[in-house]
Amino acid sequence: MPTVLAIETSCDETSAAVVCAGRVLANVVSSQIHIHAEHGGVVPELAVREHLRNLPVVVREALQRAGITPADIELLAATRGPGLPTALMAGLKMAQGMAYALNRPLVGVHHHEAHLYSPWIGGQPPQAEWEQLQPNVSLIVSGGHTMLVWVKGPLQHQLLGATVDDAAGECFDKTAKMLGLPYPGGPIMDRLAAQGDPRAFDFPRPMLNEDSDDFSFSGLKTSVRYFLDKQPGLADDPQQLRNLCASVQAAIVETLVGKTLRAARRCRVKCVTASGGVTCNSSLRRELARACAAAGLSLRLASPEFCSDNAAMIGVLAEQKWRLGLEPTDLDADICPRWDLAATWGSA
Ligand code: KG4
Ligand code: ZN
Repeated sequence: MPTVLAIETSCDETSAAVVCAGRVLANVVSSQIHIHAEHGGVVPELAVREHLRNLPVVVREALQRAGITPADIELLAATRGPGLPTALMAGLKMAQGMAYALNRPLVGVHHHEAHLYSPWIGGQPPQAEWEQLQPNVSLIVSGGHTMLVWVKGPLQHQLLGATVDDAAGECFDKTAKMLGLPYPGGPIMDRLAAQGDPRAFDFPRPMLNEDSDDFSFSGLKTSVRYFLDKQPGLADDPQQLRNLCASVQAAIVETLVGKTLRAARRCRVKCVTASGGVTCNSSLRRELARACAAAGLSLRLASPEFCSDNAAMIGVLAEQKWRLGLEPTDLDADICPRWDLAATWGSA
């Protein structure tokens, strides 16, 4: 298997990784969260400026940590889409420049497809398990996306459903803001919810009982807003704040778990996987484990290190594509900011 240098810059993380034979030799992530926090969300112009500043630093550090030199790189990989156009451009062009200079091939990777395979990173050589546990139903859930994918075989997948409005992470972040918590609110709500009562307040579980694999979280956010408008000052009480966090979290988690399990049953798979930043949520991890155990399904969660955007997942997927005979990507290929998952090679 080739030694892969992978780059990921689709949103607000600048990341470089070195991967070989399914093993991550280095995974360096430089997060821009502190820069975007004061704006309450990702500002594309600031993101690209930071990517351009950080890319040489993270690439050098990844090579150093892996103990290799540029001459040892046999394959380049980079996220081609979907994502913020200028952010994607920074990473893809850097990888293409290195591929030209080193005279090596490059594989352009679909960001969501890489999330799909991130639960397999970190174990023993992931390949055997990876093939054994397909087909599976995979939940990808972050600040930018919430989707269910049916992984039918190696690199064969079908999008079952996605959010029609806000992503689950966005719902965490926006409700946290209403509660006076800083950005990104998801991890803070998770911490506060641990000491709150999830049954204190009853918020809607959007589309949970509909016969659809799509999600919708903007109505939940709006119902929290109306609820708070009717009870001004409620979130100023520390225990009520914890109860609000726990109740909102319970609505989001119950919706994600319920819809994932129903899709798994309908697709008759024996395995469920989950990835993306919200998969760090302790309640989601616990409830998915409980529901899968009750349904006799095996569960594979991305380890927290690989939940958020990272280049290791880009490298691992590129390596699999290379192994399965995918043609390399043109070195002057453009970014695909709105790349349809179904249009990637191998989609079922
Ligand atoms: O995958 P990610 O790092 O970036 C993208 O959005 O692509 O995901 C970030 C999202 C944010 O919305 C953040 O609030 C959420 O993941 N998040 C969490 C937790 N950790 C991160 N949400 C709930 N509980 C957590 N522990
Ligand atoms: Zn992502």
